[in-house]
Amino acid sequence: MISRDSIEEVKSKLDIVDVISDFVTLKKSGANYKALSPFSNEKTASFFVVPAKGIFKDFSSGKGGDAISFVMEHEKLDYAEAIRYLAKKYGVDLKETKLSDASQAAQSEREGLYVLMNYAREYYKEKLLSSEEGRSIGLSYFKERGINERDIQKFDLGYAPDGWENFSKDAIRAGYNKELLEKTGLIVKKEDGSTYDRFRGRVIFPVHNLTGKVIAFGARMLGKDKNQPKYINSPETEIYHKSDVLYGMFQGKNAIRQKDNCFLVEGYTDVISMHQCDVENVVASSGTALTESQIKLIRRFTENITVVFDGDAAGIKAALRGIDMILQGGLNVRVVLIPDGDDPDSFSKKKGTTGFQKFLAENTKDFVSFKAGLYAQEAGGDPIRKAESIKEIVHSIGMIPDPVKRSVYIQETSKLLAIGESVLFSELNKILIAERTKRQKERVAFPESELVAVEPEQPKETLDHSRIVQLQEKETIRLLLNYADRKLLDQVMGVFLVNELEDVTFSNPVYKEIFDQFVDSTKNDEIITSDYLISNGSETIKSVVAELVVRKRRISPHWASKYKIYIPDEEDDLEKNARENINLLKYRLILSWIQTNKEMLKTTRDPIEVDTILIKLEELNQAEKAVASELTIASGVY
Ligand code: CTP
Ligand code: MN
Repeated sequence: MISRDSIEEVKSKLDIVDVISDFVTLKKSGANYKALSPFSNEKTASFFVVPAKGIFKDFSSGKGGDAISFVMEHEKLDYAEAIRYLAKKYGVDLKETKLSDASQAAQSEREGLYVLMNYAREYYKEKLLSSEEGRSIGLSYFKERGINERDIQKFDLGYAPDGWENFSKDAIRAGYNKELLEKTGLIVKKEDGSTYDRFRGRVIFPVHNLTGKVIAFGARMLGKDKNQPKYINSPETEIYHKSDVLYGMFQGKNAIRQKDNCFLVEGYTDVISMHQCDVENVVASSGTALTESQIKLIRRFTENITVVFDGDAAGIKAALRGIDMILQGGLNVRVVLIPDGDDPDSFSKKKGTTGFQKFLAENTKDFVSFKAGLYAQEAGGDPIRKAESIKEIVHSIGMIPDPVKRSVYIQETSKLLAIGESVLFSELNKILIAERTKRQKERVAFPESELVAVEPEQPKETLDHSRIVQLQEKETIRLLLNYADRKLLDQVMGVFLVNELEDVTFSNPVYKEIFDQFVDSTKNDEIITSDYLISNGSETIKSVVAELVVRKRRISPHWASKYKIYIPDEEDDLEKNARENINLLKYRLILSWIQTNKEMLKTTRDPIEVDTILIKLEELNQAEKAVASELTIASGVY
């Protein structure tokens, strides 16, 4: 049990932006920060941190809360574990009553797995550094490969002694049970029920998660026995999902963030030898193509990846294909080619620290140019091969989500291959159209609206949008007060707290205060009720709440006809109606911004200013279309 005072101390010291930045790269967005969701795969940022309120909100997964809830959610910890983690981070001494043996045993199974993996880490490390066998075999192997003391420590390297039961016997003696040993994959069960150590007579490379906990091991053999696999790795377990993990991420994440670039190599030894050359922003995919979630993991720290290639032309071409997926993930890809016959490990040894760093700096090429260069060289004067090359390169360009980047690459390729831009653009368009059609087929059709539209009385240009927004605000607060649940609140927060388009807040101060209280309550994963506001709010709040709660029914039929606000019969289908209202609100806001920007355009002289407004208008027009397509009411209403 952690004392209440200690918890309060941790809370008072923590800074949500700082806490979350350890796991996600946040970008400033107005008063808030945004990022790609760490909880789902996405290409546009919908994860927000609102420092003023000490909360985060992830619209793609719906998760939200304060810094503590983030740590719990992200690291899969319980409350006490999250507090312990934060206490450590902020140097708070926790006053804690010791856990009894019984409650220790009752701790979650995941925690048990972590504890045992940590025991194994220390065990292998101790064997490497202090046992005779470990020192003479393991340590001398690392020394021979040029791995220094610093990196042995940094990477927690170890040695598993030869023999079938060395580790398991010691672990059992230390109080771990067989079942747990099996769950971590540290021992292997035979058909007859007997067990043996998975890692024997090998050097050990622990794999860490982002917080530095060991979740798996890779074990390399020492000799050159052709009948044995070079590496034996931990199996998938409850705490280890290979496809979500990158070797070296824990040791490299700060450097990756600082350098705003991540080198990608193949193996454990490549990562470590880059560290030996003081290149710390590096991870390994462990010999396989990057998965989508690994790409996402990198994107949390940087948008720039430099793939380190080794091998011959055929191997490179095969590897290049895997890169389209990285491009698709929105990352900027560069490549550096290690001369034939070497890998980063052997090459860095040859070159030494300065030589290797210089080589990286001078030989890193932009991916599209690299690919274009490679194909141009191959195709030579052969027109058919050249046509194939164009397809191949433009295909890669088509994978890049950002249209501006795409056109830059088209220009670049046009120069490199001496082909007109228009030819490349028309090829690109074919690819983009094909992709879009594919996506559209996958999308489920939105159900036909059953709602009846009201005919418009006046053209939309003449409506006073800001006035309508105010009315819609009221309706929003009314819905919150009467029917607030997670989802509804999320939707409102999406408009008023972390809006992508403009900084927007409730124009009415009382509504704003009510909304703020709702937001505050999400910190504790609760949602306040109208009763709470009535008993705790100021006099003004009380009266507004009371009014809106009493008038549960639609606000005013008069509004509906005058301003074309469509307020459906909510008891029928609350969720649909609430969503409709929020979308309408968004829609009204966007229209009002469009109106404002158009007005500004009329009076602005400065060409840069005009440009900025035009870009903004384009963005708003797109947003208008997007929101309009989500409205179930026929567009005639507006
Ligand atoms: N790998 C594996 N199992 C194998 C071979 C390779 O898991 N049997 C993975 C390891 O993560 C390894 C990576 O693929 O680090 C790259 O393989 P390789 O280049 O063969 O290994 P290196 O780590 O580079 O080892 P070394 O430099 O000692 O040859
Ligand atoms: Mn290798």
